Amino acid sequence: MILRTLAMLLALLVPTIAGELKARPDLSIKDQQRVITITTPTSSFDQAEAFEARTSGAGTPMAPSGKNSFSQPLQNLDAIERMNFNLGRSIFKKLWVSSPSTTFASDGLGPLYNARSCLRCHLGNGRGRPPNMKTGDARSFLLRLSVPPSTRVEHRAINNKSVSRIVDPIYGGQLQDRAIQGHKPEGQVAVSWTEIPIQLADSSTVSLRKPKWSITDPAYGPIAKKMMMSPRIANPMIGLGLLEAIHPVDIINLSDPEDRNKDGISGRINLVRNKQNGKLQIGRFGWKATEPNLHQQASHAFSGDLGLSTNIAPEPAGDCTPLQQYCSNAPNGVQLRLGNSEVPAKPLDVLVQFTANIASPARRNVSAKQTLEGKSQFYKAGCINCHTPKFVTSRDAARPINRFQLIWPYTDLLLHDMGEGLSDHRPVADARGEEWRTPPLWGSGLTDTVSGHTFFLHDGRARNLEEAILWHGGEAKSSRDLYKKMKLHDRNALLAFLKSL
Ligand code: HEC
Ligand code: HEC
Repeated sequence: MILRTLAMLLALLVPTIAGELKARPDLSIKDQQRVITITTPTSSFDQAEAFEARTSGAGTPMAPSGKNSFSQPLQNLDAIERMNFNLGRSIFKKLWVSSPSTTFASDGLGPLYNARSCLRCHLGNGRGRPPNMKTGDARSFLLRLSVPPSTRVEHRAINNKSVSRIVDPIYGGQLQDRAIQGHKPEGQVAVSWTEIPIQLADSSTVSLRKPKWSITDPAYGPIAKKMMMSPRIANPMIGLGLLEAIHPVDIINLSDPEDRNKDGISGRINLVRNKQNGKLQIGRFGWKATEPNLHQQASHAFSGDLGLSTNIAPEPAGDCTPLQQYCSNAPNGVQLRLGNSEVPAKPLDVLVQFTANIASPARRNVSAKQTLEGKSQFYKAGCINCHTPKFVTSRDAARPINRFQLIWPYTDLLLHDMGEGLSDHRPVADARGEEWRTPPLWGSGLTDTVSGHTFFLHDGRARNLEEAILWHGGEAKSSRDLYKKMKLHDRNALLAFLKSL
């Protein structure tokens, strides 16, 4: 009887939900209501929420694992998935060599490339760092390049989304600062920093450093005046399969392109082309959410970062352009008995499974007084308007272990206007220069432990979490201003909360 009344009540409730918000087709009415209840942001901060420490849901590894914190598989993998995880890990670490080579199945690197393995950029499976001008080390970082569309064909290609941007006719879609023997690296990245002092309400000051990016030693001709550059450090590799499993309806419900609820936060989807099936899909990965899934992200990494071909990026010379003489004709690593690509479908799939199955680490100190105080500051300052605390993943997710999991990524996967200070002035797909995808915050407290640094934001300009917050502008300006007004005690609590993630 009680159950029936409840069911009737829910039936009344759900249409109102559906009126403004869409219902999730993967859930029964009962589950829909459970999910809404459990994912509604908490308003009580005297104790930790149930399951709050288990960021990756049931698969969260609970034992502390120090600098291996971003290398743990989801704990609910079965034996075969675990074996594939280890196999995938070895492909992620594999140092590729140029062709021809005696090492079969590891060749094909370049001719132009940024790094010889995935791991070289995703430090400890974590994030990369900005170039160090003293040591000349610009690994784990890259500059994306493009030019504004100029011909009708180019405009049409952008409008119908067959491409997300027009690559530079000489230097292609990104600057490769390395090349195999006999070829010239495209150039080197240079950055100079200007310190800007920021005053907080209690009159303490924090210095932010503003970057100026340039390309030195361009080897294939002068850099076009109209060339647009977007600097990026590598993203952390955790919880990615779970982000892929967030139901599209949840993301659509969070988006508010016209800011109809007038909270100053819009949140837009970057709708991008899925190259496997030709459909337009929600972009989820990369700093501008330009990749709809991990397979496409990995394929483009192989092509752009390592110069290796895959089924959806079939050019063995990677990002070489016709104006780069000799580049496209270099020997390549295709072995026809394995397929038409330097990285055949099977190993690519194993690698993608690996990237999907790395767990995000368990939270630390969730119940500590300072963490809970900081959590309440995080909510009060409106950080959760973009850094959405929790989701319950889709029941229809492609990988069964990722289905119906309560996860805590602190992202809405949407694009937000972050203001002029963070703009790269380079549109890509639907993202404008000043728009960035809310990055997941899970694991950010372990950045130093795992990757040996604490650089944050898309280009690593922030030297710590506090600087990252103070760079927030645009839609996040009011949150930033609230942070600036906080007392030292509350700022420290907020930072302690971020470190517990
Ligand atoms: C030269 C450095 C570099 C190499 C090598 C590299 N990456 Fe990345 N990776 C990046 C950068 C930079 C980004 C952010 C890209 C963007 O915003 O467009 C990124 C983003 C990603 C993401 C998206 C993560 C997220 O949270 O959105 C995945 C997945 C990924 N890389 C996988 C790989 C794989 C797999 C390989 C090897 C095949 C690889 N990467 C090689 C630099 C690198
Ligand atoms: C309007 C949406 C929005 C709000 C509100 C917001 N953020 Fe962000 N946050 C972002 C975006 C987008 C980025 C990435 C910007 C970039 O890389 O240039 C970001 C980046 C960050 C980063 C760096 C993450 C990384 O991986 O580099 C931290 C830390 C962070 N935010 C914390 C906060 C805190 C704390 C608050 C509240 C005081 C807050 N954010 C409010 C959207 C938002």
